[in-house]
Amino acid sequence: MPGLFITFEGGEGAGKSTQARLLEAHLRAAGHDVARTREPGGTPGAEALRDFLLFGGHDLSLRAEIMVHFAARCDHVDRLIRPALDRGQVVICDRFVDSTLAYQGYGLGQGDPQILDLIQALGARMGVVPDMTFVLGLPRTRALARLTARGQRSDRYEAADEAFHARVADGFDAIARAAPGRCLPIPADRPADAVARDIAARVDACLASRSGPA
Ligand code: TMP
Repeated sequence: MPGLFITFEGGEGAGKSTQARLLEAHLRAAGHDVARTREPGGTPGAEALRDFLLFGGHDLSLRAEIMVHFAARCDHVDRLIRPALDRGQVVICDRFVDSTLAYQGYGLGQGDPQILDLIQALGARMGVVPDMTFVLGLPRTRALARLTARGQRSDRYEAADEAFHARVADGFDAIARAAPGRCLPIPADRPADAVARDIAARVDACLASRSGPA
């Protein structure tokens, strides 16, 4: 049986990582073989590029920055995601190509069609497409409160101005509207366990529909 590729998307503080962990626990308890990972990162080389992108203090041109995100993604797909899917695992990934569209395409690139085209074209060459993408939505004021409570060092995207974050949020909305079969918008302004139940129900239904009689 081929694997299942599930991604989580949304702004910082929306609860993606928590939901990815809860879904992993739910699926493992049901006996599924799960690989949970994240972007940028997931492999040693891609984690080094994550550090470079988020905390390196570099000011690359936008196209160069996009290429570095995709360099990290290629390593991640080639060495972790594709092999895991080939083994039949459920892969849960915290961010994927949609984040490049939202942050570099809509956020930094302000929706420039040439930049969006570039990202779409590179995305189409990755060789894997998520089966399901949960797009977690949380009003920015709530997300900021969560991020402050978390007290982590903020990376260069988190530290960007509010206009940038508004464009990223609008970008995620546009991405979800454009791919309604794959993207499932999930309101995240609720207790984590309620959000997790919604997500688990959708994944369970998808797995059940795939495990019909051969
Ligand atoms: P996070 O996964 O901890 O939220 O941090 C990753 C940061 O990197 C987040 O601010 C979004 C940003 N990012 C991009 O700008 N482009 C990308 O392609 C990806 C995967 C993440």
